[in-house]
This record gives sequence, structure tokens and C-alpha cells, in this order.
Amino acid sequence: MKSVGVIASGSRSFYAPILIYKEAEKDLVEEALAVVRDRVTRKEYLGIVRGLSKIDPLLPATQRSGVVDNPKLAEVATSVPFENSYIKILGELRDGRLEPPRDPPTPRSEIYLVESPEDVKLDLGQGLAVGSHKYSDIEIPLVPIYLPYHIGIVGATGTGKSRLVRALVDEVTEKTDWKVLVFDHSGVDYVPYYGKQRVVDASLVMPDPITLGQLISKMIRYDNEDHVVLSIYAYIANKIKPRERVKTLVGVKQSQQESTCDVDIVKNFDFTHVEKLMIKIDWDVNSFVSCIEEVGERFNVRESTIARVELMLRTYARKFVNSLGKKKLTTADIVDRVFSERLVVVDLSTVELVVRRYIVKSAIDKLWEIVDERGEKPRTLVVIDEAHNYACYQCKDSLESIERTAREGRKWDIGLALSSQRVIDFSTDVRNNVNTYFFSRLQTPGDFDNLKGVLDLGGIGADSISALGVREFFFAGLGNPLKLPILIKVREVGESSPAGGNVNN
Ligand SMILES: Nc1ncnc2c1ncn2[C@@H]1O[C@H](COP(=O)(O)OP(=O)(O)OP(=O)(O)O)[C@@H](O)[C@H]1O
Ligand SMILES: [Mg+2]
Repeated sequence: MKSVGVIASGSRSFYAPILIYKEAEKDLVEEALAVVRDRVTRKEYLGIVRGLSKIDPLLPATQRSGVVDNPKLAEVATSVPFENSYIKILGELRDGRLEPPRDPPTPRSEIYLVESPEDVKLDLGQGLAVGSHKYSDIEIPLVPIYLPYHIGIVGATGTGKSRLVRALVDEVTEKTDWKVLVFDHSGVDYVPYYGKQRVVDASLVMPDPITLGQLISKMIRYDNEDHVVLSIYAYIANKIKPRERVKTLVGVKQSQQESTCDVDIVKNFDFTHVEKLMIKIDWDVNSFVSCIEEVGERFNVRESTIARVELMLRTYARKFVNSLGKKKLTTADIVDRVFSERLVVVDLSTVELVVRRYIVKSAIDKLWEIVDERGEKPRTLVVIDEAHNYACYQCKDSLESIERTAREGRKWDIGLALSSQRVIDFSTDVRNNVNTYFFSRLQTPGDFDNLKGVLDLGGIGADSISALGVREFFFAGLGNPLKLPILIKVREVGESSPAGGNVNN
């Protein structure tokens, strides 16, 4: 290893100022890893070089120098300036393991630059290989026991968040027994990567009556959502009930019974697992209109309003209602698939935002049903990319379920991996319960303060973060075996999954 300098006076257990040898100045960069060898105590320390600064004792910034009047002087004594910086000590190296530092390195101890993994035999344990330290290429694995303590991936657009998440998902499926449920908001980040056999198309998933009511109300520009929702319930009950009656009432044609909508049967109807009923029945706009009529009359909706709603339904929602029969999956089916196949990607791009939120919420709720009803641990990582659409303050529907998972997931092995451009996109409850972060170049200066609020940044400045390139992330928090934020380069992630989406069951 190249010797680059010595520990200067004033060293402390976690922070040691250093003086850099003149000829080594060109080799040293911020965030490089360095080993300190203490001749006196015979201890070795590993640390990160930070706070590089160039000092010229002849040119103090606060005193008028001759250079001001005589610029030629700047060319004289160019060897006088020197560099100083400090080492953020990660720990003491003992047999390749890193132990918390107990005493400061002795001043004059020599410092060596770590330029390759062979330079220091560092045992960081088995983990998920998402990336390696940018300058030494030492792999910094994510400790899998912290999956249920949740992972946040933040950075400006194009920094490589989605690729990082793919690397993480590949590692989780390959190296752990966890299951993974990926919600692909845009349909371009994960769907092509994992291939068709892993993908569930959200447009085939039946929403619940409330979400369906919201959708239809919006389509027909009608703000009485209750009227639409109650009509949906009446429709479901009427479609299910006659079939049962047909068995007993010989000679009565099914079509005759379906032509009217009986609102009274709703009262005693068992709507448990209503989505399962919804995927069984056929959907046609004419029968639905009769439920709108009956329910409207029952609840004193004005005749003219009912007439308008009918017209709007037939004009703007006909195709949609008639095609509901094609939705043959429920969110319970998605979770079943996660359990049998270990990795499922839901392509959310094919449906409206309210439905996307419903699917995210409802699938997470199904995982919690496994906990609540069977007392079993789902051991599932829920990946939500573009999470600002689901974990934000206004995302009422999905937020509640995400927050519960953020708060209680660690006890029941349900982990979240949330990716977004800004930390502030996550509600406070979510943000504070995410214990591992990968962050890259940030979208706005305010984001840095938000990050500081949830993480020990270990002395990283806003400037270091703003200089990060694509694929460069600071890895911080519980899942990082070094405990202090470290700069990694995410491993190469190509256009399709190396395992072709095949995972060991
Ligand atoms: N690990 C990687 N391996 C290979 N290429 C990468 C990697 N990370 C990023 N890239 C390159 O950078 C581009 C942007 O990456 P990615 O889509 O992951 O960014 P993002 O942060 O998710 O952006 P957005 O916020 O717009 O979704 C990729 O299309 C790819 O060309
Ligand atoms: Mg992305």
C-alpha cells in the first residue's frame, strides 16, 4: 500500500487530522479509504479520508499579502502549500474484522491508501452485494437481517435508483429466502428486466367497490360517489343471488331475474372477500344502469340527476363497465403468486393512480392478514419505486398500509424498499422508520437538511453529495456493515436480469 501521510496532532478515536506527504497529494481524494498503522500501540485502523484542504502559510486569506500588489509573487515558493484533511475512523482492524475504535491513533502514525480489496483483508460478512466502495472496489454488502428495517433509495432523476433497486432485488432473491413483491409504477424499470413470466398486469386486477366507484364517478363527472358505490354493491349482490335462486326456481330464466336490480338483498348479503365475487360475475352497463336507477330512487336522488347519470354511464363508461369482466385477478392472487413464485412484478402503468394505490394498499394489507390471521411471518420485501406516489402525505389510501409496515414490519419480516427523488416525499412516519438509506445527488438543497434529520451523515457535506455521478450513492444506516456512510459505485446492472427472472424456490 502506498504511504500517503501521517496522523497529526489532536487525533481522537473517531476523527484524526492528517498531514499528507507532498508527493502523495495527487493520489488522495475525498472518500478514499485509508489504513492507519500505529507503531506505538501496534494497532491498525480503517478510515475514510475527508475534508481535504490546501493550506499556504504565506497566504492567509484574512491578511493582505504581497501577491495582491505583485501577482508575480504567486509564482514564487509554490512548494510551500500543503494539504491537510482528516480521517473519519471506521474502526480498529483485528484479523480482518472491524471493531469500534477504543483509543485515538498516535500522532505520527503512518497512513496508507487502500486502492484494491487485496490491500486490506476486510471481512464484512455475507450480505447483499449492491455495490463496492468507489475507490478501493471493496464490496460493501448490505446486511440482510436489516431488510425488515426498511431501505430508502433517494436521488435526483437519472442517478441510478431503479438500477440499484434491481441489483438489490436480484441479490435478495438469489441469496436469501425472502420473497419480493415489486410495484413498477412506470412499467419500464422492472417489467422488461424480469420478463413476462414474472409480471402481473394491473389492468387485470379487480379493484374494490370503493375504488371502482371513485373511478366510475370520475369518468361520468358525478360527485355523488356513494350512489355509485352502493349501486356497485347492489349489482354484485344481484349478479350472485339469481344464480343461487336459479338452482331452486325451475323454469325461471336467469336473464329475466337479472334484468332488474333488487336493492333489498344488499342488506343481508355477505360481502366478505367482495373482490372474489366481483371477478366471478359478468359485467354489463345496462344491468348496472338499472342498479343506479333503483339505488337512486331509494335514496331520493333527483329524477333528472338519475337520467343524466344513466346517459353519462352509457356514453363514457360503457366500454369500461363492459370490460370489467376481463379483470380476473384479485390482490390476494398477487400475494399467492408471491408465495409460490418468490418474485412478482406488478406493472402498475396500465391503470389509473387511484387503482395503483388501491393495489399497493390492498396487497400490503393481504400480507398483514397473514400476520393477523395466521400469526405467520411473510418474509417479504415490498419494493415501491417512484414511492412519492404511494408514501406521500396525500396518498391516503396507500399511505396507511405503508406506514403500518414501516412501523411494525421489523417484528413480522415485512420489509420496504422505497425509491424516490426526495426524502420529503415520504411521510414523517415512513421516513423515520427507514433505517438504511442509499442517497445520491439530491434534487434540491433542502433535501440535504431532510436527510440530516433522519441519518447520521458522519461528516459528509452537501458539496460531496452534489458532486456524485450516475451509479454513485452514499450507503448509510443499519444495513451498512461499516455503520458510517460510505461512497459506493453500484454494480453494473444491464437491460435484463442475469437470472432471467428465475429464482430458486
Ligand atoms: N448500476 C447501473 N448499471 C448500468 N447502468 C446504470 C446503472 N445505474 C444507472 N445507469 C444508467 O443510468 C440510467 C438511469 O438510471 P435509472 O433509471 O436507474 O435512474 P433513476 O434514478 O431511477 O431515474 P428516475 O428518477 O428518472 O427514475 C440508466 O438508464 C443507465 O443507462
Ligand atoms: Mg427510476
